[in-house]
Amino acid sequence: MALDNANATPSSSSLLLENRVAIVTGASGGIGGAIARHLASLGAKLVLSYSSNSTQTDLLATELNNSSSSSSQPKAISIKANVSDPDQVKSLFDHAEKVFNSQPHILVNSAGVLDPKYPTISNTKIEDFDHIFNINAKGAFLCAREAANRLVRGGGGRIILISSSMVGGLKPGFGAYAASKAAVETMMRILAKELKGTGITANCVAPGPIATDMFYAGKGEEQIKNVIAECPLSRLGETKDVAPVVGFLAGDASEWVNGQVIRVNGGYV
Ligand SMILES: NC(=O)c1ccc[n+]([C@@H]2O[C@H](COP(=O)([O-])OP(=O)(O)OC[C@H]3O[C@@H](n4cnc5c(N)ncnc54)[C@H](OP(=O)(O)O)[C@@H]3O)[C@@H](O)[C@H]2O)c1
Repeated sequence: MALDNANATPSSSSLLLENRVAIVTGASGGIGGAIARHLASLGAKLVLSYSSNSTQTDLLATELNNSSSSSSQPKAISIKANVSDPDQVKSLFDHAEKVFNSQPHILVNSAGVLDPKYPTISNTKIEDFDHIFNINAKGAFLCAREAANRLVRGGGGRIILISSSMVGGLKPGFGAYAASKAAVETMMRILAKELKGTGITANCVAPGPIATDMFYAGKGEEQIKNVIAECPLSRLGETKDVAPVVGFLAGDASEWVNGQVIRVNGGYV
């Protein structure tokens, strides 16, 4: 870790991630977009990955590039990659290396899906179960595997997988979803140990209810009110509640936080 002086305080630069390359999957979504914007504000170069919504990531890339002083290299690029396809995940990393002429330092996997029908387990269709596991669990596996092989060694390597507080919340209607995220958390804990000697850390950030399209999908007003009523701070989480926690984990100051699940839920779980 970079130290300022003999008092061993971490660097006080506001651009903690300057010259680091961060890949953010799900950057077209609410949480991933906010994370990408925050990492850029800390100085990182961004690979914004989407699956179907190129408009969002193209707009974000333009915004970040317009705010950058460098004209020789882009600050952000937008790349399509289905996280459940190993070839597309590999080419996402290939593309990142080529454009930024550097191994990536940070992976944030925010890509994810939820079944907005909120079925009980007895009513969950096999194809819906497979779809959720394919993107949430296999997608996280493929991204984390690629990152474990390709992130910078020797310090600064960070794998951050977005899980869900539903792993602890265990609400009816979230069976397949919570199980897919539990798989991600377990895999991350083992991965952190397997990365011994690389300087790469692995952690999960597990949000509670956050006001994004995913949260609102399939919910009526009454259900939304009930969730808010369960939150000790009487509001839904916002993407800005999650992004700084990821920003902390992405930087050098978090080095001693490894193999952990950080729940960000305002006390909901
Ligand atoms: N919102 C919440 O309350 C909440 C709570 C706990 C955890 N989370 C987790 O936080 C993460 C982000 O959720 P969000 O709220 O930001 O949801 P969101 O706005 O619906 O965004 C979901 C993102 O996942 C991407 N995605 C979906 N399928 C993909 C695939 N096969 N390959 C690559 N990307 C894919 C979407 O890309 P396209 O739009 O381009 O298809 C989108 O960028 C998810 O992992 C979610 O499980 C959310």
